[in-house]
Amino acid sequence: MRVTEHPIFEDLDTTEYVNITVDGKPVKAVKGEMILAALLAEGIIINRYTTKRHEPRGLFCAIGQCTDCMMVVNGMPNVRTCITPVEEGMTVETQNGLGEWRTEG
Ligand code: FES
Repeated sequence: MRVTEHPIFEDLDTTEYVNITVDGKPVKAVKGEMILAALLAEGIIINRYTTKRHEPRGLFCAIGQCTDCMMVVNGMPNVRTCITPVEEGMTVETQNGLGEWRTEG
């Protein structure tokens, strides 16, 4: 489910989509929406697991302050998905602990 009409923000234009991959699964996201919104629309509520106790974390503040929504995006860990818009071809992965940086080569 997506919020497409809002009394304060602009209505969401749902005529254009981009394709992203979430943990290897193809997901269609509305162009311009935040990664977290696309995940929630797909029923995905866990974004990361904590370092020490491996507890699941997901949406909490939704304004980029708490870091509970951090995921690995295009190989880069610790991306706050609630404030990062989707892009065509983006890969998103559930983050375990602090995540790992991936370098080519
Ligand atoms: S949900 Fe708090 S930073 Fe994203």
